[in-house]
Order: sequence, then structure tokens, then C-alpha cells
Amino acid sequence: MISDEQFEKAAATLQDGGLVAFPTETVYGLGADATDTTAVAAIFDAKGRPRFDPIIVHLADAGQLPTVAAEPPELAEPLARAFWPGPLTMVLPRNESIPSIVSAGLPTVGVRVPDHPIASRLIDMCGRPIAAPSANRFGHISPTTAQHVRQQFGDRLDMVLDGGPCRVGVESTVVDLTGPIPRLLRPGGITHEQLQEVVGTVEIHEGTQPIDQAAAAPGMLARHYAPNTPLLLVETPHDPPPPGSGLLTFTPPDSIDGWSLIETLSETGNLVEATAGFFAALHRLDDAGLDQIVAVAFPETGLGRALNNRLGRAAAGR
Ligand code: TXA
Ligand code: MG
Repeated sequence: MISDEQFEKAAATLQDGGLVAFPTETVYGLGADATDTTAVAAIFDAKGRPRFDPIIVHLADAGQLPTVAAEPPELAEPLARAFWPGPLTMVLPRNESIPSIVSAGLPTVGVRVPDHPIASRLIDMCGRPIAAPSANRFGHISPTTAQHVRQQFGDRLDMVLDGGPCRVGVESTVVDLTGPIPRLLRPGGITHEQLQEVVGTVEIHEGTQPIDQAAAAPGMLARHYAPNTPLLLVETPHDPPPPGSGLLTFTPPDSIDGWSLIETLSETGNLVEATAGFFAALHRLDDAGLDQIVAVAFPETGLGRALNNRLGRAAAGR
């Protein structure tokens, strides 16, 4: 439980330009006042995030959209009605109240309304739009508990609000609405199938950028979400595995022989359950002192697409 005093302190911290980590339904966010250039710069510094990677702006309520987005495209309304509050980020023309640093100089802004009582109350009490990337050091595993946040940042944040584990467990879906056809930039908690049911065709942006290049399409860095332990992505695990191997698997494996640690995400093959536990399992594997993590690819459908995207990036560049 977060006390009224803690909420008041967190809102005041944000209003004063400080950084507050808070839970959302997807992952923990590292929040700052989106209208405060210095506060947003502090997010980039704390994360070690390159300035070319834009940050999502969070609202308490869809009614506040006009304060951050200029002339939202037609499809924003049905998408907001269908999926807000929830794990969907829309890329829209940016209103000048949002400083350019938030969007890495782009004329757009990524916006979402999180579906979490702590996030909503905090944003509401602060009275400002809140810029918040996932609360992890740049390129590392996303946090789905307050403990994950503290592990990565130690005492570097002004406050961490602990709301327990995140319900969805993977970041929001990012969809760009500024072109003629909606473009899915990052698969996430709302599936491609769900989006298409509401707005018809949604193109999938498949591109990635090498780590050392400024991203023409932001957020498309090949290596991301990465554990410190080397991660190998496979269709079927090698049997028996080399010594010191840990297994990350959707459903129970055919054989448990030889694995130092096995993380099974769903006994029954449920993708919602697997998604909710995904990052926590990856954190545990990474903390186990293994020589390598072997991750089995998910079915490329629904939430499986978002999880394969994270695994592909976690495995890249090794
Ligand atoms: O679920 C989430 O989205 C979490 C929670 C905290 O809300 N946030 C999150 O933020 O995942 P971050 O910074 O880790 O990822 C944001 C993604 C990046 O890939 C970024 O490039 C993309 O969204 N993005 C943000 N604004 C954008 C814009 N204006 N145009 C294109 N992509 C944008
Ligand atoms: Mg992130």
C-alpha cells in the first residue's frame, strides 16, 4: 500500500523536477515532468539512454490528449476508446507544450494512458503529463517489480513507488498514426490482431538499427532488453545442453536433463501468463551465475510476437 503522504511526496518530487519510478500495468516507468526540459534530460542521464531515442508521455486520462498532441489523426479516437487506459502508445503530431527533447527532436510525440491505479493517481496529483521510459538502465532487462528498479539504479532515483509485480509484463505496443496507414513500431501488450480489429490494416515495421547508429526509426535498436549473461535464441533446445546453461521456455521442456536452471513460463501454454512472468524469469536467469541462457522462441502470434521481439534483441550482438 502506498500512503497518501507517499503520493503527495512523489507528486511534489515530480513537480520539482525530480525522478520517480512508478508501476504501470506493463513495466515500471522512470517518470519526470514531461514539460520540464531539465527533468527530462535527467531521465536520459540516469538511464544512460542516447538522446536520439524518444520517450513516451503518460496521461491520467484520454481527455488530456489535446494538451500534448496537436490535431490527433482520425484513428486516434477509436484506438483510445478501445485500448485506453491500457498498453497502447500512439505516435501523434507533437504539441509545443511538450519540449523537443522528449521526442528526440521529432515533430511527433508517443502518448499513452496507463491502466494502473498508482500511475493514474500519481499523474493526476502531479497535474502534468509524465515522460517515462521503462525504469531500466539503457539496453538492459525491463523491470516488472520495484526490486528490479532498485537493483539497476540503487539510490540514484528520488523515489521508487512499489506497486508489486506488473500485470501485463511487456511494454506497450507503439503504433505510429502520422502516416497514411498505421504502422506498428514495437509489438507489445496490445496485439497486432487486436489493433486491426479496430482500425483495419496496420503495417508492421520490421527494421532494426545497429547499436552505434542514430536510429532513423527510433526505438529500433537491434540490441536491447539484454541480460549480462549471453543469451541464445533457439527454436528447439540442444539436448543435452552445454554445462552452465539455463533454459527459458514457454511450456514445460521435453527433457530437464543437464539444465542448471529452468524457467517455465506457463504450464498450460497460456501466453498472457507467460508474458506476465517473462522479464522476472529473465532477471532470475541473469542473476543465477550461468554461462549462457538458452531461450526458446514463442509462437509468432498474439503476445508471442512481442516476446519474440524482446528475445531477438536480447540475443543480438553476441
Ligand atoms: O509500456 C511502456 O511503454 C513503458 C511504460 C513505462 O509506459 N514505457 C516504455 O518506454 O517502454 P521506453 O522508453 O522503454 O520505450 C519507448 C519506445 C521506444 O522504442 C521509443 O523509441 C518509442 O517508444 N517512441 C517513443 N516516442 C516515440 C515517437 N515520438 N516516435 C517513435 N517512437 C517513439
Ligand atoms: Mg525500454
